[in-house]
Amino acid sequence: MTNSANQSQKPLTTKINSLGNIEIGGCDLVELAEKYGTPLYVIDENTLRTICKDYKKAFEKYPKTNIMYASKALCTSAISAILSQEGLGFDTVSGGEIYTIYKAGADMNKVLFNGNNKSIDELNLAIDLGVGRISVDNFYELALLNTIAQSKNKTVDILLRITPGIECHTHQYIQTGHLDSKFGFDLTQIDEAVELILNEYTNLKLHGLHAHIGSQIFETSVYSDEIDILCSELARLDEKFGLKLDEINIGGGLGVKYTEEDVPPSTYEIGEVIVNALDKAIKKYNIEAPAIFLEPGRSIISMCGVTLYTIGSSKQVPKGKKYVSIDGGMADNPRPSLYQAKYLAQVANKKETDETEEITIGGRFCESGDILIENITLPKLDEGDILCVYNTGAYNYSMASNYNRVEKPAMVLVNNGESEVIVKRETLDDLIRCDVIPDRLKK
Ligand code: LLP
Repeated sequence: MTNSANQSQKPLTTKINSLGNIEIGGCDLVELAEKYGTPLYVIDENTLRTICKDYKKAFEKYPKTNIMYASKALCTSAISAILSQEGLGFDTVSGGEIYTIYKAGADMNKVLFNGNNKSIDELNLAIDLGVGRISVDNFYELALLNTIAQSKNKTVDILLRITPGIECHTHQYIQTGHLDSKFGFDLTQIDEAVELILNEYTNLKLHGLHAHIGSQIFETSVYSDEIDILCSELARLDEKFGLKLDEINIGGGLGVKYTEEDVPPSTYEIGEVIVNALDKAIKKYNIEAPAIFLEPGRSIISMCGVTLYTIGSSKQVPKGKKYVSIDGGMADNPRPSLYQAKYLAQVANKKETDETEEITIGGRFCESGDILIENITLPKLDEGDILCVYNTGAYNYSMASNYNRVEKPAMVLVNNGESEVIVKRETLDDLIRCDVIPDRLKK
């Protein structure tokens, strides 16, 4: 079956150029590091547009498919503009994401607002900016949203987030579809929620059901199970309440290839599994073909991004490991310390030596756990070498912090030999921008 871009460990345009340096999007990474400084996030536009096309092509057989990029993976104005140009919608989880996407000029009707504890301000913003669907997570939110909708004299289009009871084999912090989860209505609570919507919360219009089973998923069968459960619920709700729901949202989760051992399915494979599961469930439960919504985040943006670092100090522990330190770490990529995530790294500049050594790459932050990569074999590194860490497009910048009061890196977009800043590097003044010294402390 055809491959798709999420299966690539590196951006699709990655090459070694005539100088012996790594090049992405036609840009020499060493030149990028010199021009913009490090740490630097680099996003390859070609890979990003290719994966969007892979997703669309993979679902051609089911025209009622809607791909909603999960912006929690990486939400910036330029990225939102590109995805919107590619015709994708957006799964959002905060007022900040909604605002960014709105300002980037996206069609707000193609935006879904999701989350287990949305604030009143966020719900107001979502309604005022015309977000297409709100996925209601719990009873508290149903009542709250109805009151807000009433006060605006509006009807709000909603989905119900449910917990389908499917466990997938991924890190427990990123599993969400099993029964003991903080997200969504338990299957046994759906009827009560529907009764409330039909009888009391008349400013809410229910269109369908939403679920998400986890992240970095390699098994395709969990999606068939999920579709079966969602479709059987559509049939059951029709029978019990005469309610014709015509949307199911199956969440995100398709995996990417962080390491050689990771073998994620292609968009084409999951496309086929999902479309077959839909066809089967439509027949089995005798329902109208529902519109289907997918919310991929990682599998759209992860492999489009790399992070460049400059090598600094190193330390050989007597009779132990050799640590080589970079100028970034857990504040720009918290995933290794949070989830024991593994990454591939290579030296971006040509090395004159073939000598290699096994090292551990340490971050610059004041914490022993700030280790980016343990035990990697690389050409012998010198101070000033540029390290390229692959697959950092998702959940790196979006989870970055200012730990140790360090400025967040810049992000550049590369394409056809051109590079453009899409997120400016923070400055020292940015770090104190929100600080206030009360007058009484100023003497
Ligand atoms: N939809 C919902 C409702 C979600 O909760 C998530 C991710 C997605 C879609 C997108 O999932 P994706 O396609 O990106 O796997 N910070 C963690 C990942 C947390 C994912 C949370 N929910 C990490 O760095 O691995």
